[in-house]
Amino acid sequence: MNSADLEHYWMPFTPNRAFKERPRLVVGAKDMYFRTGDGKEVLDAFATMWCVNAGHCRPRIAERIAHQSAVLDFATSYSLGHPLAFELARRVAALAPASLDRVFFTCSGSEAVDTALKIALAFHRRRGEGTRQCLIGRERGYHGANIAGTSVGGQPINRRDFGGLLPRVDHLRHTQDLARSAFSRGMPAEGAALADELEERIIPLHGAENIAALIVEPVAGVGGVLIPPQGYLQRLREICDRHGILLIFDEVITGFGRLGRPFASQFFGVTPDLITFAKGITNGAVPMGGVLVKRAIYDTFMQSPHPEVEFAHGYTYSGHPLACAAAFGALETYEEEHLFERADAMAAYFEDGVHSLRGERNVVDARNLQLLGAIEFAPRPGAISRAAEVSRKCWEKGLYVRALGDAIGLCPPLIAEKKHFDQMFGTVADAVRSVS
Ligand SMILES: Cc1ncc(COP(=O)(O)O)c(C=O)c1O
Repeated sequence: MNSADLEHYWMPFTPNRAFKERPRLVVGAKDMYFRTGDGKEVLDAFATMWCVNAGHCRPRIAERIAHQSAVLDFATSYSLGHPLAFELARRVAALAPASLDRVFFTCSGSEAVDTALKIALAFHRRRGEGTRQCLIGRERGYHGANIAGTSVGGQPINRRDFGGLLPRVDHLRHTQDLARSAFSRGMPAEGAALADELEERIIPLHGAENIAALIVEPVAGVGGVLIPPQGYLQRLREICDRHGILLIFDEVITGFGRLGRPFASQFFGVTPDLITFAKGITNGAVPMGGVLVKRAIYDTFMQSPHPEVEFAHGYTYSGHPLACAAAFGALETYEEEHLFERADAMAAYFEDGVHSLRGERNVVDARNLQLLGAIEFAPRPGAISRAAEVSRKCWEKGLYVRALGDAIGLCPPLIAEKKHFDQMFGTVADAVRSVS
């Protein structure tokens, strides 16, 4: 393609001008690898935006989508229905923590987040606690690109062009502490007390009776793969319980096996009130997201004395048949190949690979949890970040990783084998050595 062919597409979250000068186009993918337009193979060490947990172009998913598109291409879920959406909700609920067994489908993670926040607001109102309108997020959190998700999100670059966003939002401090916890293997030992800010600053400032929900990613992904300190999530849960605040885990990245369990909530042993998911539900093959909701919350809506719509919210494509088919294909693949268990099985090898970067030039942190990791570089104010340069050099050397601020994120498909990890860390080391 020449530059004129690229003109019309305004690409999301991309420096468009730079991309169009130096495009990186993929034309195919299989299992662990992309194929580029010029015939190169590139190892996908980022599960393509944290999505393809089972690797690319998996046959079961492709077959399920092809079959469904010939049988029932589309049916609305507005006062009509099709069996697959109900069956999928049951299947997803069976994977989730026991008390979260009601599922609202959306078409993306951003929509899942906005849906969860609206459920929280409406839930309190239904219970006669309509003053609870304040939403709490966390610095460096990412909760999608819609207005509510951007508001509770804590990425300055994502917020600064959009004015005031939602009123009545506050943010907890992020959990990164390089001075005390750099090069932690797994969860940092220090930092559980950071959760106390919720009770010591946020609740006194806004009043518990005005706070609807706290939303956090159990592991902050886009913010740089920030692993929660030991005990931190438990403490958030306890504080929310004491003050009647709903706890939402945004598991758009951590859902579907990334930490070796269906959801991170099970890995950490902390059960939130709502879980948002997307990405891995269909292995990225068809857009889909959703919210898992505690039965008691759902029941509150169902007890409404009015016979009309209980929750005035939804998307035309909620529960889309092709997305449901892709989700079944993905869940079957995960199960048949025991892929969730692989995060456990490969975690130690991956951890050693991540920490093999310690001591390389400009590396100020390496961190990991199960099959999520990041390598962080010393910042270079006023210039393109070292992480961006490393990720570009990796691509040239046949490896896809993504820059997340000053870090590169690592999120290999769960089918990755030792040879793929060796290629990944060898290539990253080469790239790091070539960056000043
Ligand atoms: C934690 C989290 N929430 C929400 C989203 C938004 O998902 P989507 O891009 O599907 O809207 C993302 C995307 O990366 C995410 O990482």
